[in-house]
Amino acid sequence: MSNPRDLFLQLLGEMLWTERTLAFEALPELRCDVTAEGLAQAVDEHLEQTKEHAARLEQVFRAAGAEPSSNLSPPAEKLAEHRKQLAANVPEDRLKDVLNAAAAAATEHLEIAMYDALIELAGALDLGDARELLEENRKEEEEALRRVEDELGKLVQAAATARATAGSTGPGA
Ligand SMILES: [Fe+2]
Ligand SMILES: [Fe+2]
Repeated sequence: MSNPRDLFLQLLGEMLWTERTLAFEALPELRCDVTAEGLAQAVDEHLEQTKEHAARLEQVFRAAGAEPSSNLSPPAEKLAEHRKQLAANVPEDRLKDVLNAAAAAATEHLEIAMYDALIELAGALDLGDARELLEENRKEEEEALRRVEDELGKLVQAAATARATAGSTGPGA
């Protein structure tokens, strides 16, 4: 990579890989592990948005005069792997949903950071249409982040209340 355009296309390819993997693998797997209704709804809705994100990124490639191509994003891959590993070791549903919400928030943070960089690069490269499409995706990531953080707060509260109740009925809880 010797210029901003190469870097833009590299990061765009990683983002396309991320959105496709989230849409067709990571979010469906996450959804299977979620039991809390509010979090399940948030994941379902963001799953639909994520399919759009992938489609929009293909448009971004074309707006930049390139063919869409995806390349592995190691951080996105690791985040999904790590969630799965931890979730397999949390037998209690409520606590597992706290982990699921935290993992979802971490992924949104990564996406937002990547979109911020892509938006800046698109601006520097005078790719106005690409920039607008990237901003649409970023806006939905921001909304999804706020929503899962909200669910995370409720889930932690519920888990703490359940612990306190269990603790008051007998010793050693
Ligand atoms: Fe996304
Ligand atoms: Fe997202």
